[in-house]
Parts: sequence; structure tokens; C-alpha cells
Amino acid sequence: MSHKQAMIDRLRADMRDEHAAIVQYLQHAYALGETGEASEIEAIARDEMRHFDWLAEAIVELGGEPDMDRSTVDLSGSGPLDWMARDAQAEERAIAQYEEHIAAADNHNVARLLRRILSDERAHRDQFAGLSGELAEESVESTGPLEARAAKGVPPQDVDILQTGVRHEYSVILQYLYHNFVMGNCEIGRELEMQAINEMQHLGWLAEEVAERDGHPVIGRGALALTGSAAEMLQADIDAERAATADYTRQIGQVSDGELRELLARIRDHEIYHDEVFSDLLAAVEEASGCELATPETPADVRDAGPELTVGSLFGADAD
Ligand SMILES: [Fe+2]
Ligand SMILES: [Fe+2]
Ligand SMILES: [Fe+2]
Repeated sequence: MSHKQAMIDRLRADMRDEHAAIVQYLQHAYALGETGEASEIEAIARDEMRHFDWLAEAIVELGGEPDMDRSTVDLSGSGPLDWMARDAQAEERAIAQYEEHIAAADNHNVARLLRRILSDERAHRDQFAGLSGELAEESVESTGPLEARAAKGVPPQDVDILQTGVRHEYSVILQYLYHNFVMGNCEIGRELEMQAINEMQHLGWLAEEVAERDGHPVIGRGALALTGSAAEMLQADIDAERAATADYTRQIGQVSDGELRELLARIRDHEIYHDEVFSDLLAAVEEASGCELATPETPADVRDAGPELTVGSLFGADAD
């Protein structure tokens, strides 16, 4: 295996771990409800999203394919104190792995990127330790593992509908991000990334509604349409939006809770907007003004002659 391929494989492993961390931390934040601790954990999850994004860009720059699978998410533990301990352990593992990957990196830009990420992970480890202390002082009750806890006292249908939405939103986030990664730095990529961020908002809204109903959001994905030409990708994205619009429209008529109806209608209206944005982009691609795909169509030697590795639009944009 070439040095380059080995580096791509290490970055792909890092991506899978970042992905798992995002989902694990979000689950813990949702379960903690509207607390200061939950906001701090969500902010950490946003850092991990930036890491995920930068790693994908680095992989594409090296001629590889971003990895949209994820490592195991640890939802065990008897309650918030246990969860914080598991999150701190996840950070310890990330720190050890990044240190190894920095030592192995023979590319200056990749090493610099990994050092940047490593500094965040060290801060996160300390934050999770601090959160443990805060939660211990508040002596929050233990609630048991997060797997498949059933919602109590609310129409089960509402929770099922919310869970369907969570699954849809998580799937399109992954699909749009992947399409953004391979489309590279162009108008279509930027739009896809922006709509993916909007879908992250939807995921958060729906997941919080599940948690408020004493359930646990199940963050799992459906089938993804990842590959194809730019036009095929956009068509798949349009199809996903239309299916979501139809689902949400049907569900608006099925939920019993008025506020939930309003939330679903708001999300549904966003999906209609996404459909329109993607349809305009598709029309532009069909007029041949679209993006050149970064992978896998472009041969590696062409990419090697290209510009230096860039670490992307999110670097510093809203880094807190
Ligand atoms: Fe990270
Ligand atoms: Fe959405
Ligand atoms: Fe959408």
C-alpha cells in the first residue's frame, strides 16, 4: 500500500470516530434536556462536526473518498455521570489516535490539520471531566442506558412519527455532506453544505421533541444515494426532498399535538425550499455550468498537481 493510501485510510478511520462522537454526544445532550450541560455538550458535538468536515476535505484532496460509516456509538451507562465518563474516554482514545496519526503523517498539511484537531480533543477531555463534576454536584438522577427507551404517557404514534423524521434528517445530512465533499469548492457544494446544516437543525428539533416525550431519539440512517455524476447526485437529493415533503405532509394530519403539527409544517416548508434550490442547481448543471467532481472521476495525478490542501470554509467561521 502506498504511503498516501495509508494516510487516506488513517484519515477515514478518524472520520468514522468523529462521526460516532457526534452522535454519542448529541444523544447525551438530548437526554439531558434544556440544561447548561446539554448546551456545552452540543457545542463539543459541533466541534466534532468541523473535524469531520475538515477530515473529509483532506481525504478528497489526497484523492480518496470520505467515509460516511461510523464507529460504534456507546449508549450504555446508567446515567449522566456514567455518560460523561464514557465521553471523556472517547476523547482519550481520540487523543491517542491523533498523536499516532500525527507521528505517521508525512504530509505537512495533514499533520498541521491533525494537530489543530488534537488541541480541541484535549480541551474536550477536560470539559467532560468538568461536566462530571457539575452533574455530580447537582446529583442528577440515573436514568439507565439510552437504547430503545420507550416514551411514556404520550401517543406512541407521535413518537414514531418523530423517529421517522430523525432517521430521514440524519440520512440526508450524510448524503448532502458527502455530495458537498466530492463536489469540492463550488456553488453546488456550498449550497449542499448550507442545506445539510439546515437539516442538522431539523434533526435537533425532532430529537429534542422525542426526548421531551421521555423517549430516546434513534439516530440511524436509511439508504443513501452517494455516487454518480453531479446531475445524478442532485436528482437523488431532489427525490429525497420530495419524499420527505410527502411524509411530513401526511404526518401533519396524523399528530395529535398542535405544537408538533406546527413544527412539522415548518420543517416541511424548508424541504420544499430545498427541493427548489436543488432543482435550480440541477438546471444549471444541465446547462453544463456545474462543478467538476473531485472524486473519483479526476485522476490522482491531476489532483496531485493541484493547489495545496485547504481546510475549508468552516475553519474559524464560527469556531468558538
Ligand atoms: Fe474531534
Ligand atoms: Fe429536513
Ligand atoms: Fe430538506
